[in-house]
Amino acid sequence: MRIAIDCDDAGLPLKQIIVDHLRTLSLEAVDLDYLREHKADYPDIGHHLAKRVAAKEYDRGILICGTGLGMAMVANKVPGVFAGTCHDTFSAERLKKSNDANVLTLGARVVGPELAKAIVTAWVKSDFAGGGSAPKVERMRELEREAYATR
Ligand code: RB5
Repeated sequence: MRIAIDCDDAGLPLKQIIVDHLRTLSLEAVDLDYLREHKADYPDIGHHLAKRVAAKEYDRGILICGTGLGMAMVANKVPGVFAGTCHDTFSAERLKKSNDANVLTLGARVVGPELAKAIVTAWVKSDFAGGGSAPKVERMRELEREAYATR
């Protein structure tokens, strides 16, 4: 699994911890490091990663800011991306199994590094369960298509 990761200034220390953690799980973690070449805040950083996940350059993405909230909001503006903020492992598991989210967002000012690592593990080890969740997720995709068709 190829996972893109990025963060704003608030997420910098946690980002490196999560990159290292993904590698210990034998997953390919690609740090997009938008701040290396741009002066930017979470909207542009999150949008940059979300576009690349939507284009299927990566299987999934992880975005980190102070709360995780701004990153989720901007990522969800990109068609093809379903992003959710998780600060517990149960939600992280359900975010993939029930909602088929391809972007996880974390708040570096909300969770400590050990909980953040456990949340990431729960999400990357989960797959979409289908079944009763499939028509609900498909309905979200339909609503997204409708929203963009009318523009
Ligand atoms: C800091 O810019 C803070 O607003 C940001 O990291 C994030 O928490 C926004 O949702």
